[in-house]
Amino acid sequence: MDTFASVLILWLAFWASSMVINARPNLQDDSVKTYDVAKFGAVGDGITDDTKAFKSAWEAACKEKREKAKIAVASGKTFLVSQIEFKGPCSSTSIIFEILGKIVAPPRSAWEKKGADEWLYFHRVDGLTLVGEGQGVIDGRGETWWKNGDTKSRPTAMRFSHCNKLQVRGLKHRNSQKNHVSINGCNSTTISDLVITAPQKSPNTDGIDISGSTDLRILDSVMETGDDCIAINGGTSNVSISNINCGPGHGISIGSLGKKGKHDEVEAINIRNCTFNRSDNGVRIKTWQGGSGFARNIKFSQIIFIEANNPVIIDQYYCPHKKCATKKSAVKVSDVGYYGLHGTTISKNATINFSCSKTVPCTNIIVEDVDIESANPNHPAKSHCTNAYGTAHALRPILDCLLK
Ligand SMILES: *[C@@H]1O[C@H](CO)[C@@H](O)[C@H](O)[C@H]1NC(C)=O
Ligand SMILES: *[C@@H]1O[C@H](CO)[C@@H](O)[C@H](O)[C@H]1NC(C)=O
Ligand SMILES: *[C@@H]1O[C@H](CO)[C@@H](O)[C@H](O)[C@H]1NC(C)=O
Ligand SMILES: *[C@@H]1O[C@H](CO)[C@@H](O)[C@H](O)[C@H]1NC(C)=O
Ligand SMILES: *[C@@H]1O[C@H](CO)[C@@H](O)[C@H](O)[C@H]1NC(C)=O
Ligand SMILES: *[C@@H]1O[C@H](CO)[C@@H](O)[C@H](O)[C@H]1NC(C)=O
Repeated sequence: MDTFASVLILWLAFWASSMVINARPNLQDDSVKTYDVAKFGAVGDGITDDTKAFKSAWEAACKEKREKAKIAVASGKTFLVSQIEFKGPCSSTSIIFEILGKIVAPPRSAWEKKGADEWLYFHRVDGLTLVGEGQGVIDGRGETWWKNGDTKSRPTAMRFSHCNKLQVRGLKHRNSQKNHVSINGCNSTTISDLVITAPQKSPNTDGIDISGSTDLRILDSVMETGDDCIAINGGTSNVSISNINCGPGHGISIGSLGKKGKHDEVEAINIRNCTFNRSDNGVRIKTWQGGSGFARNIKFSQIIFIEANNPVIIDQYYCPHKKCATKKSAVKVSDVGYYGLHGTTISKNATINFSCSKTVPCTNIIVEDVDIESANPNHPAKSHCTNAYGTAHALRPILDCLLK
């Protein structure tokens, strides 16, 4: 072997060993490709419309052949983004959408005449993770809509539909045009560490709305809104909600279900360790007359009320606007447990009000360790039930109206 050949072999051996040593970090770097919206032309001055740049970054990330792709929205900047669809399915099995800056919607005047159903719309995307690291902001500029009538349809600020393995965490959602976040037709979702804020008087600014979805966890979040903090609608099962601070807002609602004769099914809902601070309603199940289906296997535990209005409600005669006819059919409510509910109410109405259908009564309602005091000595806490069957232990106000 001549000198040249041995040097070459030595060099090759050195090169190969260095590849082995570097294999891990290299693999990691190679497996996530980052798409910064700024590289796609986003300006981030809050004035220039950055929608096209977001769309291009999304399309590139979605087509990424590597397993993971990341879209980066830098901190310290404000990106004006109009109505946009982040569309799947994607080739990458996991997309991280990192929002460290602020994304704002155009004001109402800049939307089409007829309005829209949603602003930021994620459709058919599996394995999506939205992260805000506690600093990313999504601002719907709802204040430009609320004062107007209903001439334009107000969009939901952020909607996820038909998805698997969605994660949303660490974002600040504020002043949505209508709902802040909607989850429709998704399996396996985790939402955590959100701060959702809109004024108490802002119309229909629900925190999180869920329908047609299974296996959800919502935890460690603060919601101050003008409507429901969380609403669970038909076709939803296996939801765990914990450590939520709600209020002002309309509490956590199951329903409304069975509107206009609809068949709705909701089951396996577990709501625990939540605080309702000056909320209008606390934990509520609401169904319309004339629907069908069920709301069952629902558990509320470790709930604290601070001057809440109407803390505990089952209302099978839900009818918020006009008069509704009493019908024979109703969504059946059964197997609902309330364990450890404490605090104060300012309600003039019944603190606990189970108002169930005459023809389809509520069954197996279990109430244990509930102590809710009136904050107003002129209106002592009271309870009320119609057509509700179940058992009660250790209660204030005394709930002696449950049927055996
Ligand atoms: C969610 O699961 C249901 C039941 O397994 C299935 O029918 C549906 O297609 C799934 N949804 C998605 C978006 O994959
Ligand atoms: C309910 O959802 C959780 C995820 O949130 C999942 O781990 C669990 O297996 C599901 N339970 C059932 C009975 O499907
Ligand atoms: C209950 O929720 C609060 C936040 O709302 C949290 O600080 C606390 O650790 C939670 N407790 C349990 C037992 O999960
Ligand atoms: C309840 O809300 C009020 C203001 O709305 C706030 O001052 C108070 O600290 C809150 N209480 C708790 C326990 O979070
Ligand atoms: C009492 O309940 C009725 C019917 O649900 C409702 O319209 C009214 O606003 C409630 N009053 C208070 C003080 O919450
Ligand atoms: C209980 O709720 C029903 C249905 O909303 C309402 O009509 C009734 O006035 C309430 N009763 C009391 C005592 O609050």
